[in-house]
Amino acid sequence: MKNNYILITGGAGYIGSTVANYLLKRKYKILILDNLSSGKKSFINKKSKFIKVDLLNYNSLNKKIFKYKISHIIHLASNIDVTESEKYPKKYLIDNVKMTKNILKFAIKYKIKNFIFSSTAAVYGKSNKTKVNEKDQLKPISNYGLGKLICENLIIDECKNNNIKYTILRYFNVVGADIFNKTGPLKKGSLFKNLSENLEKNKNNINVYGKNFKTPDGSAIRDYIDVLDIANIHYLIIKNLKEKNNIINCSYSKPLSVLKVIKLFSQISKTSIKINYSKRRKGEIPKIYADNVYLKKLFKTWKPKKNVYQSIKTNLFWEKYLNN
Ligand SMILES: NC(=O)c1ccc[n+]([C@@H]2O[C@H](COP(=O)([O-])OP(=O)(O)OC[C@H]3O[C@@H](n4cnc5c(N)ncnc54)[C@H](O)[C@@H]3O)[C@@H](O)[C@H]2O)c1
Repeated sequence: MKNNYILITGGAGYIGSTVANYLLKRKYKILILDNLSSGKKSFINKKSKFIKVDLLNYNSLNKKIFKYKISHIIHLASNIDVTESEKYPKKYLIDNVKMTKNILKFAIKYKIKNFIFSSTAAVYGKSNKTKVNEKDQLKPISNYGLGKLICENLIIDECKNNNIKYTILRYFNVVGADIFNKTGPLKKGSLFKNLSENLEKNKNNINVYGKNFKTPDGSAIRDYIDVLDIANIHYLIIKNLKEKNNIINCSYSKPLSVLKVIKLFSQISKTSIKINYSKRRKGEIPKIYADNVYLKKLFKTWKPKKNVYQSIKTNLFWEKYLNN
């Protein structure tokens, strides 16, 4: 199997580049497809093969890639901004779905037998539970989450009809950076990114949206996973999961409030951080975290290799690196 390529769409992005480096280190051959719209050329490891292509254009995709022998597709390319998805629904409900349709069409045509998709906790949306498992109701409240759910359903149908094994990974909040390979988060907007960027620029404050959620400290509660643990899960899937189709929550199942995360950043950076409260954002879910029992059942020896303390440290380090 290692003679064939693992194709990673979005492999020049934050998570895709980390997955690529992780697999390269374990001697897999990697083929990266990316249009560099938000990804960075410098994130692409020289040991991988890179092809610049827009996944919205099937003909160009087909022309550029057909000659490669591919064992697995890891499909990460996507527009990823939840707030933007409300302003520009087409990018999320049409473009993200079209990219997935095109790469699936390619997989079917060339009989590529394994398809791994990065979905998101946003597909759960307004679930009636706070600790969600893979069988729970899916009620996305953003166009980003809805677009991903449409992709999930498309993948399930097409893969079943064409005898392709699928693995759908529902990542919760992905944090941390791969300091060794010099890749990390670029996009502003997440709590970890905003806090590390502000601290690096000596702007020792942070905006918090809403202070009276029905949670112990009044701030929203989320679940996290380090990007290197995400990369490790992809490796375990490629190495060990041979037959069954799967949908898997990827997270530590350790709920943390926004205020607690700020406190940890403050402790680790030894800086006091001022909180500016503003109005609760539309559709913000008070509390959601992952039931990760299924992940642990699939990979009996699975344990997180990282924790949020380490993720905070690498996030801060990464911001310093970007600034210099
Ligand atoms: N970052 C998170 O916390 C998180 C959480 C849940 C799910 N995800 C999912 O993980 C995946 C990767 O996210 P990320 O944080 O690395 O984002 P990212 O923006 O860093 O990576 C996305 C990559 O896709 C590429 N891309 C976008 N449109 C393309 C197109 N038309 N053709 C070819 N390439 C295209 C971009 O250039 C970029 O390199 C996404 O599918 C995202 O929805 C991320």
